[in-house]
Amino acid sequence: MGKLRIVVAGALAATVLYSVGPSAAGAAPQLTAAPARPATGSSVAHLPGTPSTDLPLRTLARKHGLGFGTAVDMDVLDSDPEYREHVSREFSAVTAENAMKWESLEPTRGEYNWGPADELVEFARRNGQKVHGHTLIWHNQAPAWLNEGVADGSISSAELRDIVRNHITTVVKHFRGKVRAWDVVNEAFTDGDNPVLRDSIFLQHLGPNYIADALRWAHAADPNAKLFLNDYAIDNINPKSTAYYELAKQLRKQRVPLHGMGFQGHLDLQYPLPIDAPQNLARFDRLGLQTAFTEVDVRYFLPVDTYKEAGQVGSFNTLLQACLLTPRCVMFTVWGFTDKYSWVPGWFEGQGGATPMDENFQPKPAYRGLQQVLAVAADPNSRRGF
Ligand code: G3I
Repeated sequence: MGKLRIVVAGALAATVLYSVGPSAAGAAPQLTAAPARPATGSSVAHLPGTPSTDLPLRTLARKHGLGFGTAVDMDVLDSDPEYREHVSREFSAVTAENAMKWESLEPTRGEYNWGPADELVEFARRNGQKVHGHTLIWHNQAPAWLNEGVADGSISSAELRDIVRNHITTVVKHFRGKVRAWDVVNEAFTDGDNPVLRDSIFLQHLGPNYIADALRWAHAADPNAKLFLNDYAIDNINPKSTAYYELAKQLRKQRVPLHGMGFQGHLDLQYPLPIDAPQNLARFDRLGLQTAFTEVDVRYFLPVDTYKEAGQVGSFNTLLQACLLTPRCVMFTVWGFTDKYSWVPGWFEGQGGATPMDENFQPKPAYRGLQQVLAVAADPNSRRGF
């Protein structure tokens, strides 16, 4: 007896697949419910009258003028054809997960390793994708020679300033015209109720104006690149996002070339949903800034269950809807799209499942939720121009 597949959309798109399958000879067919693992492609039946949502995320996002991206692990892009195929089909934007960071580009002082980053730029060109450059200045993943030189005093403050200016100039010029936007400074503020600029070697030796200087140096190297600041735990209105709002307001007033604010969007189901994300992004938009969700994933303590699946759908959808409600929100990027290669399990013990596809590249309810939000008709802000 063939299988009759009925798809019943449950709350929060936690679709449950019922199948009436072959049963013991002569016995009535059994109706069994199985947790949703919707198949890829149009084999998933749609409720009559609903628009087809089973299109790649980049295709659905294009109607909104929105770039839909993913972080890309270059080792995996080279070694896993299925990963590679999904990156090209699903996304209109790519961010190097590590290949464009300072330690990767200049592991030895004065010796640049452009290979993996150039490969991503070429991959993006071939696939009609735009590149989001990540990241020029960050207190993490700076090269060892830099940290050691500053620590032992062999690199003076004046020399560090020259080194930073040279790094930004060299990298931005190398990718000039090939990288749409840069996270010029990443994670500049501390966390908590009284955020201050992180006590990094950049603040210590270049002073608080290092951020404005970095933006100016990047702009001089590529006047057409959009220059962002980027951080985590700033998706809702809180002291840290307000610190960025005040900094952005000051930089814009000083006519420093700041063009956008990146909200990383690393969510965790144990913490409250950033439900006021639209109001948060709106205040940056009112400054004339572009906004973007740059590293979205939604982790939880394993094992998964339908409540966690539903919470993940709601979390991804909250951020995507906040972006669509913001006229200059130009990009929504997930920090990896498959649980097969997520950074989360290695950093948060016992947690995982943070991406929209499972370890077999099968769409999870979170993926279906993103499709459905993007498939929603008319969008007054659809001329984002990504
Ligand atoms: O490349 C080396 C490899 O040669 C070595 O054998 C291996 C074991 O030591 O380490 C490899 O480097 C690792 C690198 O990822 C590449 O895989 C580093 O140890 C590891 O620390 C690094 O983790 C990255 C992390 O940033 C570092 O803070 C993650 O992949 C990356 O997803 C994560 O991304 C950051 C964003 O850049 C900024 N926002 C937060 C986000 C998550 O932390």
